Amino acid sequence: MTRKILVTSALPYANGAIHLGHLVEYIQTDIWVRFQKMRGHACHYVCADDTHGTPIMLRAEKEGIAPEQLIARVWQEHYDDFAAFHVAFDNYGSTNSDETREFAQSIYRTLKTNGLIEVRSIEQFYDPVKNLFLPDRFIKGECPKCHAKDQYGDNCEACGAAYAPTELINPYSAVSGAKPELRNSDHYFFKLSAESCQQFLRQWTKSGSLQPEAANKMQEWLGAEGENKLTDWDISRDAPYFGFEIPDAPGKYFYVWLDAPVGYMGSFKQLCASRGLDFDDYWRPDSKAELYHFIGKDILYFHALFWPAMLQHAGFRTPTKLFAHGFLTVNGTKMSKSRGTFITAASYLKRLDPEWLRYYYAAKLNGSMEDIDLSLDDFIAKVNSDLIGKYVNIASRCAGFISKRFAGKLGAVDASATAEFETAYQADEIALSFENRDYGRALREIMRLADVANLYIAEHKPWEMAKQGDRETDLHTVCSTALTLFRDLTLYLKPVLPKLAEQVEAFLNIPDLTWTDDWSPLAAGHTINEYRHLMTRIDPKQVEAMVDENRQSLEPAPAPAPARHAEHQQHTIAPIAETISIDDFSKVDLRVARIANAEHVEGAEKLLKLTLDIGEAKPRQVFAGIKSAYDPATLVGRLTVMVANLAPRKMKFGLSEGMVLAASGDAPGLFILSPDSGAQPGMKVK
Ligand code: 2FM
Ligand code: ZN
Repeated sequence: MTRKILVTSALPYANGAIHLGHLVEYIQTDIWVRFQKMRGHACHYVCADDTHGTPIMLRAEKEGIAPEQLIARVWQEHYDDFAAFHVAFDNYGSTNSDETREFAQSIYRTLKTNGLIEVRSIEQFYDPVKNLFLPDRFIKGECPKCHAKDQYGDNCEACGAAYAPTELINPYSAVSGAKPELRNSDHYFFKLSAESCQQFLRQWTKSGSLQPEAANKMQEWLGAEGENKLTDWDISRDAPYFGFEIPDAPGKYFYVWLDAPVGYMGSFKQLCASRGLDFDDYWRPDSKAELYHFIGKDILYFHALFWPAMLQHAGFRTPTKLFAHGFLTVNGTKMSKSRGTFITAASYLKRLDPEWLRYYYAAKLNGSMEDIDLSLDDFIAKVNSDLIGKYVNIASRCAGFISKRFAGKLGAVDASATAEFETAYQADEIALSFENRDYGRALREIMRLADVANLYIAEHKPWEMAKQGDRETDLHTVCSTALTLFRDLTLYLKPVLPKLAEQVEAFLNIPDLTWTDDWSPLAAGHTINEYRHLMTRIDPKQVEAMVDENRQSLEPAPAPAPARHAEHQQHTIAPIAETISIDDFSKVDLRVARIANAEHVEGAEKLLKLTLDIGEAKPRQVFAGIKSAYDPATLVGRLTVMVANLAPRKMKFGLSEGMVLAASGDAPGLFILSPDSGAQPGMKVK
């Protein structure tokens, strides 16, 4: 039966870079979604940037830009980081969208109609210099318990005490330094303490939507039957605030956490528009579709209390399940800037292969809320021993014989050797582990099978058969069998290593691997492509350099960027294209071009419009997909290289009369080429 599944990951704030802590969740979710898609289910994965709130407003102000500009820039950075880690959202939106605004406002209106919104005056700290009510995090002062100085308004980092900001001794605004004043203001509350919310949440906690640890937490928050421990939730903030205005309440805005989860709906609504899906089919109260939210355990409160209570009372379905995970530690402790272990996605990608991290995280994840540790030494050892030593090794030891001795054609397969692999039982056990998010268990089973394959090769020694003149058929069978086993392992690993699996599909010359019940071996006579290097080992120096760089980036006088030694740059590269003759190459007329003008194109997400001078009477107009990487103003006057004899192409925005050359890889970034100084527009590049 084909399941209809909607999956989300928590929405990252639009004022910071994605780091290895965030990636635990996106990688965990992406693996699960890819697995469901391979099984043939209709599974949709949406996410978005979480764009509202005071910190984002203040950050934009500090940078001297509008919040909209800040969130647009960060959106692109997040989008590129996720893409580089092969996190394949079906839609990546923003909470600052029309769709999210409409849902947030209509949910609010319904809650109000149902008597679940109440207005109350509250007293709060106000910054008289910035004319701003201060969130707790922006008030500092002396801890009332241990007297440590400069502690935040909600808890003390020195003694761990929790308190109200009004209890701080000598409080000051962390924004302006001014002494805050207490002022009154009307706030809007969602009445979580209402009997109907309590009743509903008690019953929801028992419905199996929560992991056992999360259900226990809920019991604690709800208290015993008859007890009313839930307090109303303050959902409004006063202007100035970057967010959505509350209907019929001028100057009042929805608190960022009100519209954040609504962003799941907003993003899915966009997907429905682009794919022709029926939104209500997934969100109406009696929907048969499944809805899963992957989250960190720190935001369980928002997702297990407020969110289902809001949905239930606003006429929508509630989540099928919440999948909470633990925190990431690096080398056994909290990620630390001074130790160099606060590692951003972009900094990881400079030197390391994203699939190494996907594999390692998968090996550590078991579907529980336990924290997971990225031990850097263990990371190197595990990836090198499992992925290179056990898995890739199977293909690298056998493929060459097939190309060189059998013209790329496979022979018969040894059925006794493939028997263990090709039972439905095996596949079902691995599938069950993926379904339960126990990826660690799935990978242990897959690596056990890799051991079986390696043992088979070690016992038959194809390299010795190759030296004996009379064992061609045996050699053919052993190598073909090993490659069939390699195909099966690739299928199992595909949710975790999608890019590598794609390379293997190309090498084995087979269609996209899906989770089928047909485990027939690769057919005798099937032609495979030449084996190309699939993945390198991790060199510990790459990891050291990454940690050093993150540590250095903290030093007061920033050291120059570390030299990028060639030996540290061992990215896996895409397979080199088919060989061409010099005649083929000389058909391409490459010219040095001066960028006479560069500008944005109204309505184009990726393109810049370039005017290129190659010494002709009239300059060329070229649309180049480089908007994500370049501010047009910085391009004007630069020399670059263009394909001058490409057939002109009519685009939505006008005619494109050529193409500029730019380099890109798996990691984010796009780099246009520049000739050495002295080159002149119009010079031929050959
Ligand atoms: O904790 C966070 O990073 C929030 N931005 C998560 C929001 S998740 C959802 F509710 F939008
Ligand atoms: Zn203290």
